[in-house]
Amino acid sequence: MAGIPTPLKYTIQNSSLFLGNLLAYPFSRLARHRLSHSYDMLVYPFFGERYVWLSHLLRNDDLEVVVAPLRAREHNTTEFELLSIAALLKDNLVNTVFEIGTFDGRTTRAMAMNLLNEQGRIHTLNLPPDTSDVSLATDKIDVGLASKVVSGERFINTPQEPLIEQLWGDSAKFDFSPYNNKIDMVFIDGAHSEDYVRIDTQNSLKLIKPGGGIIIWHDSHLFGVKVFFKKWLKENHYPVYFVRNTTLAVMGVKNGQPFDFLQK
Ligand SMILES: C[S@@+](CC[C@H](N)C(=O)[O-])C[C@H]1O[C@@H](n2cnc3c(N)ncnc32)[C@H](O)[C@@H]1O
Repeated sequence: MAGIPTPLKYTIQNSSLFLGNLLAYPFSRLARHRLSHSYDMLVYPFFGERYVWLSHLLRNDDLEVVVAPLRAREHNTTEFELLSIAALLKDNLVNTVFEIGTFDGRTTRAMAMNLLNEQGRIHTLNLPPDTSDVSLATDKIDVGLASKVVSGERFINTPQEPLIEQLWGDSAKFDFSPYNNKIDMVFIDGAHSEDYVRIDTQNSLKLIKPGGGIIIWHDSHLFGVKVFFKKWLKENHYPVYFVRNTTLAVMGVKNGQPFDFLQK
């Protein structure tokens, strides 16, 4: 299939796979399994060469991570997403994190457990609990979550709390400048509208140290985050990886510009 454009190649490959397995469906458990997999490929919006397993993104074969609290609640990352975030953080020797969207602080705490050394810090931004309105359009659940739980309740009074700075504000208005060029990793999981994710991404590019770091987005193929990525990646061929079996997207940043962190 040399010379065939990549999207067409994937369409042909997947359609053949899909049809073959459809014919075998009543007779073969494997075909039924494959069919659900190929269906996932056909419907997943960012399927392509950067839709990868977590292991594809990790360089350290002996990586060990510790995550707690593991059990997810509604609106948390899944257990495997939590593990993936911690693994990406540790594999990239991250020591300073900026998180947009604290919620109950479960991911904040798990990230704090995997920092490079005792000087490591997590800065986590959330809407103040009494917030009733925000500056850009977004779903009202994004605002409502600010009062649903105590922000950071799952890291408060834990050994990781001293490593964590809780910040308050609307990410579209917040003054990020004191943190610019000082951060190794940003985790974007605040408001989920296209406008918010766009501005959170622009701010994150400035936060990352000039020497390099990574941005991780949650819910990348859902809500306004999906709309943002569809447009952003159409305008620019940025090296964003989408992690299979998760809603995570990850991209390297160097000198304020996107770069392929697997190439370093
Ligand atoms: C889905 S929750 C985050 C979940 C958390 N990162 C985790 O892994 O468990 C989204 C959080 O972002 C906060 N948020 C929503 N809009 C925001 C905004 N404009 N600025 C800052 N935080 C925001 C919400 O209050 C909520 O706590």
